[in-house]
Amino acid sequence: MMDPYRLAAAAIKSAASAVAVTGAGISAESGIPTFRGHGGIWEKYPPDEYATIDAYNANPDKVWKFWCDLATTLAGCKPNPAHYALAELERMGRLTAVVTQNVDNLHQDAGSRNVIEYHGNARWLVCPRCRHRDPLDLSQHGGTPPYCFCGTLMKPDVIMFGEVIPSEAIVQSALLVEKCNALIVVGTSAQVYPAARLPILAHQNGAFIIEANIVETDFTQTVTNAFLEGPAGETLPRLLRYVEQT
Ligand code: OAD
Repeated sequence: MMDPYRLAAAAIKSAASAVAVTGAGISAESGIPTFRGHGGIWEKYPPDEYATIDAYNANPDKVWKFWCDLATTLAGCKPNPAHYALAELERMGRLTAVVTQNVDNLHQDAGSRNVIEYHGNARWLVCPRCRHRDPLDLSQHGGTPPYCFCGTLMKPDVIMFGEVIPSEAIVQSALLVEKCNALIVVGTSAQVYPAARLPILAHQNGAFIIEANIVETDFTQTVTNAFLEGPAGETLPRLLRYVEQT
């Protein structure tokens, strides 16, 4: 068996464009729980109660409190070596963009510049009517969600189940993924569409798929060309070293 790191590094180095698609697993080592699986956020907070737009409209204070608690957790978290490895690949000119499903801002904190947020950003509020955005100020907004100056109840700027992905994110990521020659898929369970379609789209367009995860996913036996098994905080820095040294 060829060394998957060697294969992955060669694919990145020969790619005119390489793109990363990331999920909750890349932030696990920053202390942020993932969504699915044992100990995941959705185990304690069922999404139909806390993460659908209908739940928010029916019971805004309860759903608001959940997202403020999550934002409080996120505020105390820092990027880990996996985020820094992707930022360094971009700085070296080896990575065009990161498309992330995460709402934690840690890619930007690590220095990644071209970040497409597929599911929004939990540090912000948005008005569903006029799209006005405000930073979430936990000291002011702890109790109940504020109203926008247009009179509408604001919501966390995250995509809840039942909402559509912002069209900019859809279009930009589809263009990037269709054109890339190498795609690095990190820490996502491949369960949530349309984000889970991105690696399939890249594969159909001939891209080399590198997957970094602690376990195999639905991608691994179908579209993945090089599987980097283990915590992303170890596997991505190792991949970076291979790109630098081989
Ligand atoms: P999931 O919680 O579904 O999956 C996390 C993935 O990360 C799993 O495949 C884990 O095996 C993997 N993982 C865990 N720790 C890891 C580590 N240290 N290194 C590498 N991989 C690790 O999270 P997502 O796939 O991101 O949407 O979930 C997608 C969307 O579902 C989220 O964006 C969220 C959720 O509902 C919204 O909130 C809109």
